[in-house]
Amino acid sequence: MAAPAIETSGLDVGYPGRRSPVTVISGLELTVEAGTFLSILGSSGCGKSTFLRVVADLLAPLAGTIRVMGETPSAVRSGRGVGFVFQDSTLLPWRTARENVRLPIQVGRRSLSRMIDDRADELLELVGLSALSERLPHQLSGGQRQRLAIARALLGEPRLLLMDEPFGALDEITRDRLNDELLNLWRRTETTVLFVTHSIAEAVYLGQRVIVLAAHPGRIVADHDLRPLKGPDNRCSREDPAIVAAMARMRSALGAAS
Ligand SMILES: Nc1ncnc2c1ncn2[C@@H]1O[C@H](COP(=O)(O)OP(=O)(O)O)[C@@H](O)[C@H]1O
Ligand SMILES: [Mg+2]
Repeated sequence: MAAPAIETSGLDVGYPGRRSPVTVISGLELTVEAGTFLSILGSSGCGKSTFLRVVADLLAPLAGTIRVMGETPSAVRSGRGVGFVFQDSTLLPWRTARENVRLPIQVGRRSLSRMIDDRADELLELVGLSALSERLPHQLSGGQRQRLAIARALLGEPRLLLMDEPFGALDEITRDRLNDELLNLWRRTETTVLFVTHSIAEAVYLGQRVIVLAAHPGRIVADHDLRPLKGPDNRCSREDPAIVAAMARMRSALGAAS
């Protein structure tokens, strides 16, 4: 059995305060099986991004333990095991799409460099941007820029992909299309995905499991395993009565929490 993708125990997370640290998430107990597509729902400010920062080793926990694929977050980070996609992806404006994708890995050796170029081209193809690979970020639409950010996150073949409201700024049609593309990508890999969103519909459409967080302190108030409803291919119809019922329970958990 592979180690869980995420395993936390008594995890407290927060930021330094003027006198003492400010706790954002308290006593988090969460185990996520490797390969899972996990959606994380929660009202704004409840600590979703903060939690991803701890997983990514950008923030140290205040107390408790966290293991990422059986290792410390810093070991996973230095092994390039994690890829990120954020809402406003930070692409370098003066670099072409292709250069942005291959950016995370800079190598001097020419043979290796050619391999990475090939891989970057494959990824651009995968996200449907081959024809636009020489464009600069400002010559791409919002949806195309997010696809580029996904390609870049996949370059290191991460075993864990952290996505923080990656499609939040996009129109609904583009968002639906990217959701489908993301699911297709995920099905072809064994990557675990932690996907933060405000949208119940998006959380349910993508996730095999959906957790709902509440604030003050940040904690899990609902945890839905959707696999029995969605089957092994993780597909569902938003009209399926069981899915509609699950969405209603999430909505009331979110409502009660805010
Ligand atoms: N760098 C920071 N320093 C201090 N407090 C922060 C910092 N980033 C976020 N916070 C606070 O932590 C809480 C959770 O924020 P965040 O994780 O961004 O929420 P979410 O992503 O769920 O909207 C908020 O109260 C926010 O003000
Ligand atoms: Mg956030």
